[in-house]
Amino acid sequence: MNCIFLFKSKKPKPRSNLEKDNKNARFEKSAPELTTRRSSSSSFKLPTPRSLPTPASVKDLHKEREQNQNTNQNLRVFSYKELSDATCGFSRTLKIGQGGFGSVYQATIDNHTGGDSHSSPLVVAVKKLNRQSLQGHKQWLAEVQLLGVVNHPNVVRLLGYCAEDRERLLVYELMSNRSLEEHLFTRKTITLSWKQRLEIMLGAAQGLAYLHEIQVIYRDFKSSNVLLSDDFHPKLSDFGLAREGPEGDNTHVTTARVGTDGYAAPEYVVTGHLKMHCDVYSFGVVLYEIITGRRAMERMKPLPEQKLLEWVKKYHADSKSFKMIIDSKLCNKYPIKMVRRVAKLADHCLKKNDKERPTMAFVVESLRKIIEDSVSVGTRSSVGKSTREGEGLVLEPRGLAF
Ligand SMILES: Nc1ncnc2c1ncn2[C@@H]1O[C@H](COP(=O)(O)OP(=O)(O)OP(=O)(O)O)[C@@H](O)[C@H]1O
Ligand SMILES: [Mg+2]
Repeated sequence: MNCIFLFKSKKPKPRSNLEKDNKNARFEKSAPELTTRRSSSSSFKLPTPRSLPTPASVKDLHKEREQNQNTNQNLRVFSYKELSDATCGFSRTLKIGQGGFGSVYQATIDNHTGGDSHSSPLVVAVKKLNRQSLQGHKQWLAEVQLLGVVNHPNVVRLLGYCAEDRERLLVYELMSNRSLEEHLFTRKTITLSWKQRLEIMLGAAQGLAYLHEIQVIYRDFKSSNVLLSDDFHPKLSDFGLAREGPEGDNTHVTTARVGTDGYAAPEYVVTGHLKMHCDVYSFGVVLYEIITGRRAMERMKPLPEQKLLEWVKKYHADSKSFKMIIDSKLCNKYPIKMVRRVAKLADHCLKKNDKERPTMAFVVESLRKIIEDSVSVGTRSSVGKSTREGEGLVLEPRGLAF
């Protein structure tokens, strides 16, 4: 194949293409596209209310930022030494995650506002991209440019960055419950309840709908990119692959095909034509992940079960056997009718013909309705009136399943 084909595969993540890129990598001393001056007194504090009106597009946001430098998100520019000190020299004991392009560390930084030297230190997450990766640099830049201007409660906050020699780092708000992926697949004992799973997906859908509204295609929707705060509020992270959507009469953007195996829409994999519909497809994959508790790709399973979508196809949402694919870690604590509705919504998102897929705004509304109906089913069943399938199973009250 002639074009770049860079599909990430979860665990282990292949590095071959990146390594090829590394040989050609050229880095500027500092990122030329970024104009924010380093200022150790630049201020940011959490939480900050962010209530800009919804703009027409990400272009408007960039224009707005250019016109008035003071309205940017106050991204703080860190020195490498500051971040090295804050992570005890990128100590393994402070490492909280590993991705295809770098490692993530917990760090403690000063949180001073102007002359105020008394505010308490802030615990953050620092992503250190692998050195010398051209792809890594591109993603770093895309992320700084986008997260520097976007503003939504379901999008992770970028607090600052570092670009020194070949080092590229990003400093985010710390999402103390890490990723949806970890909760779904790596924890054996405690698990997210059905209600929590739905609420997380609703938040993630709202984040995606917002991005589509400002004409941004996210391109990397997957459970490891849905991060969770201490109270399990979801936020999308990792905007290195995000692209502006098509302009004018164009129906798509043509790009190098990058993404993660198992989540990318089939037409995008074949043609490289990127549309909002590709994100909707990936969302459908994650809906099946929350239903089944299985990864999009399970390389350790027998062949017919390795690809999640191939496997679930045999268990249609309306069939009797559907229950067999529901995550056993839920211990039968779910209203089956609602799970079937989520599976049907997932099937809609996964339509082969991309034009038949719903918009993310439609997905948000559908999930909201399912959650509302689940609550009323739970209420009715708790007063002993319901006898139909699944209605006797109440949803866990918030947090009870932990
Ligand atoms: N802001 C954050 N707060 C807390 N944990 C984080 C944060 N950002 C990332 N992590 C953790 O680090 C892990 C690795 O993140 P990263 O985005 O580098 O890779 P990934 O999404 O797992 O994979 P890929 O590189 O294929 O996208 C995440 O799964 C998450 O557990
Ligand atoms: Mg990620």
